[in-house]
Amino acid sequence: MTIVLSHRAKALKPSPTMTISALATKMKAEGIDVINFGVGEPDFNTPEYIRLAAKTAIDENFTRYTSALGIPELRKAIANKLLADNQLSYKPNEIIVSPGAKAAIINVLMAVCDPRDEVLIPTPYWVSYTSQVEMLDAIPVLMPTDVSTDFKIIADQLEQAIRELPNPKVLILNSPSNPTGAVYSRTELEQIAAVCLKHRIVIISDEIYEKLIYDGDVHHSIAAISDEVKALTVVINGISKAYAMTGWRLGYAAGPAEIIASAARIQEHTTSCVNSIAQKAALCALTIQSDEMEMMRKEFGKRRNYLVGELNKIEQIHCTLPGGAFYAFPNVSYYLENNRKNIHNSIELCQFLLQEFKIALVPGSGFGADNYVRFSYATSMKNIVEGVHRFSDGLKAIL
Ligand SMILES: Cc1ncc(COP(=O)(O)O)c(C=O)c1O
Repeated sequence: MTIVLSHRAKALKPSPTMTISALATKMKAEGIDVINFGVGEPDFNTPEYIRLAAKTAIDENFTRYTSALGIPELRKAIANKLLADNQLSYKPNEIIVSPGAKAAIINVLMAVCDPRDEVLIPTPYWVSYTSQVEMLDAIPVLMPTDVSTDFKIIADQLEQAIRELPNPKVLILNSPSNPTGAVYSRTELEQIAAVCLKHRIVIISDEIYEKLIYDGDVHHSIAAISDEVKALTVVINGISKAYAMTGWRLGYAAGPAEIIASAARIQEHTTSCVNSIAQKAALCALTIQSDEMEMMRKEFGKRRNYLVGELNKIEQIHCTLPGGAFYAFPNVSYYLENNRKNIHNSIELCQFLLQEFKIALVPGSGFGADNYVRFSYATSMKNIVEGVHRFSDGLKAIL
């Protein structure tokens, strides 16, 4: 008997980042010396004092369901963090803890989007935004950007895009950005916020890379522009990237009480709550001061400078210096247009580089930008030094 899958399931594309990482891990397990630039997670371990907090939670039998919103002391710690770091004041019922920022985003999208509502997404975008929107039968509307604006949308472009749409509902903003590393300035955010206010567009502000910013640049949350903007914005953040805790699965959303209450209702019927032990670990991460995070950030900064410097030494490769996150996003269009290997797009280029030169990169097409490939520099300096050589050799080999 044939089982007919839902149109939703059939339409879903696999996450290109997860696919490439799984392939690289499999090749590694087979004994092949692959350098994996595909992973979007810190290569550092979760700090020991955080792991200890989780062990204590288990020993104290903190192992039961919690409220769907998350334990009150964690929500209080998140509120304190948002106030101290972002000058944002939230009440406990305006914060929900979810199984990762990824889950926080889809819960919020589910709370605000009806089928056929349009969700504006600056492009290049993080791979899951479009898939999540499509899963809800809402419509992703891509807003292309390029190096001329450092991969950032500008207010006029947003205004124009909104005017052309029948049901514009949400803007997803991601600063610092995955994959480009772009960081929006306060002035840029003010201009974008003014357009959203004018058209009553809900802003989902994904700030998961907030703590990974370089060269003394500063992170600004769009919600902090004014109380009116805050009332239209849901801030998304989490512990995965800043505290090297990707596998713990904990993120959060902070925003208007009615959106958070709806997200909690959705969570009650889907995942119930976040793993109780991870909640205690996150509480520790957010309340205990440690210099380990700064050590990680500095190390990422050194790797960024080296990698981008070396990439730009390769003939016909152009890579902007990313202001934040841990990705480099070089333009490879010259090699897509001028090669004798029948390589037509970023997927074919990445397949060639993985098979022949044993480096795993994520094709730009997964981020809506086929002329690019993404390097994650959340890997050792030794791997970066060797990997960039292999990249350069691989490109020379196809000309
Ligand atoms: C831009 C962006 N948002 C959200 C996430 C998801 O983070 P989490 O591990 O908290 O689900 C990622 C992870 O790669 C990301 O790059």
